[in-house]
Amino acid sequence: MSKISAAITAVGAYVPEYVLTNQILETMVDTNDEWITSRTGIKERRILKDDGKGTSYLAIKAAQDLINKKGLDPKEIELVIVATATPDMKAASTASYTASEIGATNAFSFDMDAACSSFLFGMSVAAGYIESGRYKNVLLIGADKMSSIINYKDRATCIIFGDGAGAVLFEANTENLGLQDEYLRSDGTGREFLQATYGGSSFKLTAEILEQGGQYAFQEGRTVFKNAVFNMADAAAKILERNNLTKDSVDWLAAHQANKRIIDATAQRIELEDSKVMMNIQKYGNTTSATLPLLINDYESQLKKGDNVIFAAFGGGFNWGAIYLKWAYNSK
Ligand SMILES: CC(C)(COP(=O)(O)OP(=O)(O)OC[C@H]1O[C@@H](n2cnc3c(N)ncnc32)[C@H](O)[C@@H]1OP(=O)(O)O)[C@@H](O)C(=O)NCCC(=O)NCCS
Repeated sequence: MSKISAAITAVGAYVPEYVLTNQILETMVDTNDEWITSRTGIKERRILKDDGKGTSYLAIKAAQDLINKKGLDPKEIELVIVATATPDMKAASTASYTASEIGATNAFSFDMDAACSSFLFGMSVAAGYIESGRYKNVLLIGADKMSSIINYKDRATCIIFGDGAGAVLFEANTENLGLQDEYLRSDGTGREFLQATYGGSSFKLTAEILEQGGQYAFQEGRTVFKNAVFNMADAAAKILERNNLTKDSVDWLAAHQANKRIIDATAQRIELEDSKVMMNIQKYGNTTSATLPLLINDYESQLKKGDNVIFAAFGGGFNWGAIYLKWAYNSK
């Protein structure tokens, strides 16, 4: 019997309508378009303006986009994973609500959080369920309403993040397409440099903390930047080496969209030309768990069956890694 691998067979996405441009940010904090563009590559990001709508709203829309494009019966979905750092609430999971709302009534579901690496780690988890032979398909959604934890008075963070969601369907494959190899790592000593602290079980959110804006995400940009450049590039290089891939045999790099300079450094490390580097940070900023599926959604029409795609990410925790995947279909 041929080995079962886990292949991506459909993609969907959703971003909210409201566009927060660098020019608008110039009126909110002491910054300017030139600084943001040259330091990050970001020109605009999407924001879900409605306070009554959370990450599940984005996740549901992305999943419905996939379901409609694929013509999938949601009752056939066996597992729904929502990768997110901004769940609707601490309990119950965003995934359970999302699964019910999209009609995936025969599925079980759960959330996964590894900050900006949530979707990358989610790919590993989704693939593992399928490779085990116990499940035929898994819907993996990466969704974040980052605006819910961003202080729009803090120029160090508010210029970077945006809201969005993307979804992929993993299905069992017997042609050896799909996920081939992964290199994933965590280092908890990095958590002090990037966190949304208060409201967690170790850090009570008091009235005083709220007054100081302690409910928002904080990052020491320079330290995160250095670690991201080193680790994301290193993981990508390792996955190439382990699989005897050369720059010519890699067709695409899909790297977490946190900063164009970090993506460029990763591409340079594996000597990949710009035309093979997926990039949409200019439109969406850093959407945390949604960057990778938003990338493959934007590039879906250019991807061909058999293409070698390297996924890479780095994020809070710290968590990082790279995945080598063989693309499984030509888009219609
Ligand atoms: C945040 C980030 C863009 C800042 O870029 P940087 O080149 O590291 O800039 P620094 O933080 O060193 O700041 C340089 C100067 O610009 C200033 N500055 C910071 N934010 C600014 C902004 N939005 N507009 C204008 N100036 C700004 C700083 O105050 C500093 O001024 P100083 O030299 O007078 O002290 C960059 O560090 C980064 O991308 N870090 C990683 C972020 C990330 O990936 N986060 C998510 C993890 S997945």
